[in-house]
Amino acid sequence: MSDEIERILRDEIGLDASTVGGSLIARAAQRRMSKRAIVSVDAYVKLLADDEHELQELIEEVVIPETYFFREPDAIADITRLALDAHALSSGAPLRILSVPCSSGEEPYSIALSLLAAGLPASSMSIDAVDISIEAVRRAREGVYRTGSFRGDFSVWRKYFAETAQGWRIDESVRAVVQVAHGNLLSETFSPPREQYDVIFCRNLLIYFDESAQARALEKISSLLAPEGVLAVGSADSFAARRAGFAPSSGCERSFLFRRGGSAAPSEPSAAVARRVRPRAIATPPARNRIVRDAAPRRRTAVPGARQPVPATSAGRDSASVLIDVARLADEGQLATAIDAGERAIREGAVSAELFSLIGTLHAATTQPDRAEACYRKALFLEPSHEHALLHLALLLEKRGESALASKLRSRARRALSFHTFAGP
Ligand SMILES: C[S@@+](CC[C@H](N)C(=O)[O-])C[C@H]1O[C@@H](n2cnc3c(N)ncnc32)[C@H](O)[C@@H]1O
Repeated sequence: MSDEIERILRDEIGLDASTVGGSLIARAAQRRMSKRAIVSVDAYVKLLADDEHELQELIEEVVIPETYFFREPDAIADITRLALDAHALSSGAPLRILSVPCSSGEEPYSIALSLLAAGLPASSMSIDAVDISIEAVRRAREGVYRTGSFRGDFSVWRKYFAETAQGWRIDESVRAVVQVAHGNLLSETFSPPREQYDVIFCRNLLIYFDESAQARALEKISSLLAPEGVLAVGSADSFAARRAGFAPSSGCERSFLFRRGGSAAPSEPSAAVARRVRPRAIATPPARNRIVRDAAPRRRTAVPGARQPVPATSAGRDSASVLIDVARLADEGQLATAIDAGERAIREGAVSAELFSLIGTLHAATTQPDRAEACYRKALFLEPSHEHALLHLALLLEKRGESALASKLRSRARRALSFHTFAGP
């Protein structure tokens, strides 16, 4: 399939074919060409240049809308804590939050749920949510969710959802504080409803961009962020944020909250957040440590016939503390040292699927795909349904053109997720 189609997608939406795999793009283009009864790639490239509607249709085919409620929840807990810890309210203006990309809305609604449940009034927050996919925007506006959107124990949020024939409908009180819009973060005309934001969530998007698109996106975000504003990125996006001059926000290193060019004093709430939110005496659930949480045994239902996870052994050090140390080094940008520390711990007996998977991710980040693959395979030997290892190994195989195998791994990951996914909130 044409390099030209990959180039168009890279220029328009930042999509790096080498991250998602050229074959994914080729299959998407092939589907669109069949729909439009076009046989020549050159003719389709011409159509993409002339017809915005067709370009949008192709974008819908290639975007990865994977999301769920309270994904990487520590960032949401920390933002809620910062909002609540604020000491003074000078203006009474709402806390301005942008979620881009918002996909089908689970992320911005999770932020709203957390702030509202902590006791903040609806008038104290304004959450704008933007995504490039028209289908995702439609679903976010609709606010009706199926089981895949809920992972982990969701019982505490149950009261904010009503069961309907179509799925779980989010309560109007939550929907009302989130405004959803269509937009492309990389477009020169990208203009969310507000000129500046106190908090911007840009999670699990930069990983699909090449370096130049990451820089463009982060420049745009930087221009939209208030001087003391906070940027929340996904764990896998943090390298890009550092490269663009963002620094981890003190006390929030584990939740991947960043500020422009420096960090605030420990536990000090962001001035931008402090200015806007009235302190309340209601405590939020404490922010959990991401790595400790990940290292803890996860909720699982036994898969009939499947090998059971091998418990971590820990000669000398427990595997949770090794994970914390390795993740801390990685967060500080010391990737090689993090890999050494993890591999040393494994040699000393702190073997766990979680640790192999983490080292795999570090190898992938340092462009050592063979080593990354070996680590993900070891993680899967120990824990055959380890979702992170399954999904990331699938990505590596996809890049290598092994689409059939990659698709099998994705199905396994989906099955694994469904075993610890609730039937509803
Ligand atoms: C993996 S989801 C992440 C959603 C959410 N932030 C999360 O972390 O769960 C990625 C989303 O990015 C959107 N997207 C891709 N390129 C984009 C762009 N250039 N501008 C805005 N959204 C984009 C896709 O439509 C998709 O919904």
